[in-house]
Amino acid sequence: MPSVSVESCLQRGRILGKRLESELILAHVLGSSRASVFAHPEWTLTQAQSLVFDALWFQIEAEKPLAYVLNRQEFWGLDFFVDERVLIPRPETELLVECVLNRVAAMGECLSPRIVEVGTGSGAIAVALQHVLPEAEVFAVDVSSDALEVAQMNALSYGCSGIQFVESDLLQECFLDEVKPDFVVANLPYIGTEQFDFVQDSVRRYEPALALFAGADGLDLYRRLFDQIFYSKWKPQFLLGEFGDAQRLVLESILLQRFPGYCLEFYKDGAGFDRVFVLNFDRSSFF
Ligand SMILES: C[S@@+](CC[C@H](N)C(=O)[O-])C[C@H]1O[C@@H](n2cnc3c(N)ncnc32)[C@H](O)[C@@H]1O
Repeated sequence: MPSVSVESCLQRGRILGKRLESELILAHVLGSSRASVFAHPEWTLTQAQSLVFDALWFQIEAEKPLAYVLNRQEFWGLDFFVDERVLIPRPETELLVECVLNRVAAMGECLSPRIVEVGTGSGAIAVALQHVLPEAEVFAVDVSSDALEVAQMNALSYGCSGIQFVESDLLQECFLDEVKPDFVVANLPYIGTEQFDFVQDSVRRYEPALALFAGADGLDLYRRLFDQIFYSKWKPQFLLGEFGDAQRLVLESILLQRFPGYCLEFYKDGAGFDRVFVLNFDRSSFF
């Protein structure tokens, strides 16, 4: 078998318009950095390396997301294991983590808040929060036992053994009254089947449907979560959630109807899209 050069692999990436993917797969196969791959197009792959490259590249040609091909995705500066059991954590979701941390900092003395994350998936949000706030008590909820396995693996790899994982359809009855969290944080599925269907083909094909869709307008799970909070005696101090840009007006009207009189704020992500809402249940903060 003739030896295969780095340059010929990079060329396969250029032809498909997937140069970054080819560089990162080469770096993975060669156990090297992306910069070294880029700097050494004359390097050659061993036969074994070449077979591994082909196997991974075949998946890229089939439009599989790079994160699933390499089983890793960075989030909040941490490396997460991901596979098709969980949504690939998105950079814009870091805004949700940032909004929680800003509220915790503003609370001053309380660096050990109790946080419930609903729809934890890979555990990215829960692990990022526990990493920054080791004193926090974090509960990570998901309806998918498959996702919880991945989240637990990620928590363990960062020594976040204190995170409590709960398999549940949103928040079971009495959960809030028993746990009494300061924060409820959610990045629930918000793609609509009829409206607000802003999903790409490769996402639809490879990422778990359970992590993407939530009824006709994508907001069914949020409606149910808001009802659960409404009917529980205990209210968290803050409820934070991620949503799709075009959903802001609908979401705002649902939230204001359900929780009139509370302070509701919206935040834009780095690309300028409405992305996160923060509902403050502490009336004293604005009276
Ligand atoms: C959009 S993904 C978010 C994953 C992760 N938190 C993140 O930000 O990358 C939504 C997650 O909610 C979970 N989920 C869907 N329906 C749920 C339900 N009824 N109760 C709890 N979790 C649910 C899915 O399994 C999925 O892991």
